[in-house]
Amino acid sequence: AQNPDAYIDKTYDQALNARRDTTETPVGVRLDLTILQQPLGGTSPFEQDFDYPAAFETIDLEELAADIDDILTTSQDWWPADYGHYGPLILRMAWHCAGTYRIGDGRGGANGGMQRFPPLNSWPDNRNLDKARRLLWPVKQKYGRRLSWADLMVFAGNRALESMGFATFGFAGGRIDAWGPDETYWGPEKTMLTDQRHSGVRELDEPLAASEMGLIYVDPQGPGTQPDPIAAAKEIRQTFARMGMNDEETVALIAGGHTFGKTHGKADPVESLGPEPEAAPMEAQGLGWQCTHGCGKGHDAVGTGLEGIWTKTPTQWDNSFLETLFGYEWDVELSPAGQWQWVPSNGEGTGTVPDPFDPETTHHPTMLTTDLALAEDPDYREIAHRFLHHPAEFADSFARAWFKLTHIDMGPRHQYRGRLAPAKPLDWQEPDYNPEGQALPEDAISEISQRLLDCGLTRAQLVRTAWAAAATYRHSDRRGGTNGARLRLSPQCDWEVNNPEELKAVLAVLEDLLQTLRGTVDGAQNLSMADLIVIGGYAAIEAAAAEAGHQIPVRFQPGRTDLTEDDPHNTDPLWAAVLEPSADGFRNYPERQEQATEALPVEYQLIDQAQQLCLDAAELTALIGGMRVLGATYRDLPHGVLTHAPGRLTNAFFSNLLDPDVYWEPAPENSPADYHGICGRTAEVIWTASRVDLLFTSHRGLRTLAEDYAYDDAEERFVQDFAAAWHKVMTLGL
Ligand code: HEM
Repeated sequence: AQNPDAYIDKTYDQALNARRDTTETPVGVRLDLTILQQPLGGTSPFEQDFDYPAAFETIDLEELAADIDDILTTSQDWWPADYGHYGPLILRMAWHCAGTYRIGDGRGGANGGMQRFPPLNSWPDNRNLDKARRLLWPVKQKYGRRLSWADLMVFAGNRALESMGFATFGFAGGRIDAWGPDETYWGPEKTMLTDQRHSGVRELDEPLAASEMGLIYVDPQGPGTQPDPIAAAKEIRQTFARMGMNDEETVALIAGGHTFGKTHGKADPVESLGPEPEAAPMEAQGLGWQCTHGCGKGHDAVGTGLEGIWTKTPTQWDNSFLETLFGYEWDVELSPAGQWQWVPSNGEGTGTVPDPFDPETTHHPTMLTTDLALAEDPDYREIAHRFLHHPAEFADSFARAWFKLTHIDMGPRHQYRGRLAPAKPLDWQEPDYNPEGQALPEDAISEISQRLLDCGLTRAQLVRTAWAAAATYRHSDRRGGTNGARLRLSPQCDWEVNNPEELKAVLAVLEDLLQTLRGTVDGAQNLSMADLIVIGGYAAIEAAAAEAGHQIPVRFQPGRTDLTEDDPHNTDPLWAAVLEPSADGFRNYPERQEQATEALPVEYQLIDQAQQLCLDAAELTALIGGMRVLGATYRDLPHGVLTHAPGRLTNAFFSNLLDPDVYWEPAPENSPADYHGICGRTAEVIWTASRVDLLFTSHRGLRTLAEDYAYDDAEERFVQDFAAAWHKVMTLGL
């Protein structure tokens, strides 16, 4: 029942293993393109233009709040509420929804409502959250399509806090539901609660953010079930940093969360719980972990196997978690299920915490090893102590950290919906987009385009620069992209993928031009560098299309703003670093050297990047074909530039790649290319290419798309498709 084999993503898993076994395996031909068809997981039954965020705005949030509050305080016989209040259970559900987020690739998080699907719905750490979601069904049923599960789960978490007396920082709606599991890689292990993801001195593999398969973060008993609070602190620091949280936010979140509720472990979960939802019998209807201990619910409910109560007021916001933590010395003991937890030394604290069902019974408090980490790690201790003595500061930190945790994958503020969304920008949010303030008249756009074409930069340079700005976008958390012009700031301008030497020279020309344009072109006074970089790409593409005899419509959409060097959005090294592409098949940039031995083969990284850029397989094919003939490769490398007229937007990449007179061989060891294209008649090397290039003729799905663009009458269609896909990428995140 605990074997997750059925739910572990096969695509990435196979790819990773293939890479480990042998780098020669031609894994690319087996590449699964499903993620490009279903970026969020599953197929939505909604009309294509259904707008979740707009639908959310029609909801009366006061009515919704009242409906959820009713649920929270109405105990159900089928799953009785501890202390008559589901607040703690629902809060934990929301935390586990959002807590899968990781900054490494922006995946996980509350968006999509993924906790409803495997593997997350069956992770041991999510035990009994199936009941939490089922409790919310009447609300989902009432609001229907207007309220996504993803918004509902986070909003319910907020209501849980509010209804227990905590003032939250706000709530923004607009999350979209998935309709099935996605392909997120959750780790290499085949068995739940095992760990093969650390190397060196407990260094956690990227981009993972949990220390074991099936956990949201760390083992509550301590690393490897060793009750060592200092070792636990190290793991907590590492995993919470992977979620984008610093020490202060981490302490606030754990102390704030464990101010509420209790742990459940009257019996051993392995012996007393039935199969998880994905393995449960049909009649369980999506619920799992049926409990055979006692009556199996309420007083007898079994969750993690830890058993205890943190505070004297488990359904009320106050300072009691920290008061309890610092109020006693703690001794380690085994829970009834045989798991390590902590109790006050010398029998102290007896009778201070209430029983969840029997008002006549009281207990002593308990703590988890991970809770004690907050008191024993010197840095955590200092913060926790400050919070203990300054409750208002604690409340403010918890409110902000909770908002960040639950909104971190939503992207810039203009994605936020509903009147509860905080208006002021926060440091970790993406830069604002300002279509009104930066508006540009059409005449100005034409004038600027012409001046860009005349400024001495090549078309390839203009295209490459615009691409470099856009290619950092990742839809998983809507970060990066053209807005902000981060490309001209450190660290982006120094990334090897951007060929820093060339990029800085290009940017210097563009900076000069920007000043001139602002002073000389009517309506361009507020022109941003971010917009100028993008216009450069459009101008080059239009010119390249015109030279090949094709007209493409001008689609430029203004409004991008520029970040400054000292803007917190840019200077936080955490956020700046995670946007660096590990490879970029669109520019034929192979992969970052330090990653080359462990990373997925470049073609897998291409599909991953395409998914983050919201591209389907046809858009991906069009973009690669276009960027190659434009010569927009990394350092002007000739690989994949399969045309005799670089800089002209034609379908030559496809027709030459499919030319039966050319055969391809792996390039010699010392060649920078992966393959050589050899003329069948002369036996001369006439082309060079990468694994990414040959993917478009070796992979059965991509080959059909390449053929479709190589037809004699396909060039016009190809050019239009390329321009549309280009526009899509340039406007991501706006
Ligand atoms: C419950 C571990 C962080 C909120 C629990 C339980 C464990 C646990 C083992 C008991 C579950 C059960 O048996 O039913 C951890 C660990 C954390 C962590 C190891 C990080 C190091 C957080 C955070 C929050 C939170 C950040 C929210 C902000 C809760 C709540 C409960 C709970 C409200 C009580 C649930 C109930 O009463 O049913 N946690 N937790 N936890 N946790 Fe955490």
